[in-house]
Amino acid sequence: MNSGITQTPVAALDAALAAAFDALLRGAADHRSPFRTPTLVTIGTDGAPEARTVVLRAFDPASRRLQIHTDRRSAKLAQMAADPRIALHGYDPTARMQLRIAGRAMLHLDDAAADAAWSASRETSRMTYATDDPPGTPLPAPPAAPGDPIGGRAHFAAVALRVDSLDWLLLDPAGHRRARFTWLADGTTGATWIAA
Ligand SMILES: Cc1cc2nc3c(=O)[nH]c(=O)nc-3n(C[C@H](O)[C@H](O)[C@H](O)COP(=O)(O)O)c2cc1C
Repeated sequence: MNSGITQTPVAALDAALAAAFDALLRGAADHRSPFRTPTLVTIGTDGAPEARTVVLRAFDPASRRLQIHTDRRSAKLAQMAADPRIALHGYDPTARMQLRIAGRAMLHLDDAAADAAWSASRETSRMTYATDDPPGTPLPAPPAAPGDPIGGRAHFAAVALRVDSLDWLLLDPAGHRRARFTWLADGTTGATWIAA
């Protein structure tokens, strides 16, 4: 029997998850954090993956929900409405830490959550939703920036992303460390080291 093998990693797995959640909290709060602008991956309506940068607006560790904002006329919103499965990726080159998240998107368009997110948004952010042309519209020339955020609310959406699994990778010269955390719908959770 070797009790050390089972005891030490449990504490370290907890520390790995804490480091991942701290990074997401910093990302939501600090515009200098690399996790401020993760890559969101959705499933295109033709089944092909689509990736783009988004701003991480909030993270609640207790509910494992992240929040982003987007234009409800955007391709990504239609994609998440058709298939809510998403992935989110970020890498901090200073900490040498990669996070890969898989989860589900919940769309908030005209509810209290969307109202609260809109109210908390800066005017410069609101302005981006006041464009006449939906995102992705072909244009003969770059459009003028909207001068007034009025009308933006009708195009605005807050999207909650529920974290269902998290893959944590720390690059370390002494040996890379990687762990996977899962939260299943029936309430079961998993945490395990995996080969890097
Ligand atoms: C640094 C950065 C931050 C961005 N943040 C957001 C964002 O928070 N929400 C958003 O919808 N698009 C954001 N974008 C634009 C998206 O990357 C993307 O170009 C746009 O939303 C259209 O994506 P779609 O056609 O896949 O819907 C950001 C782009 C950059 C470069």
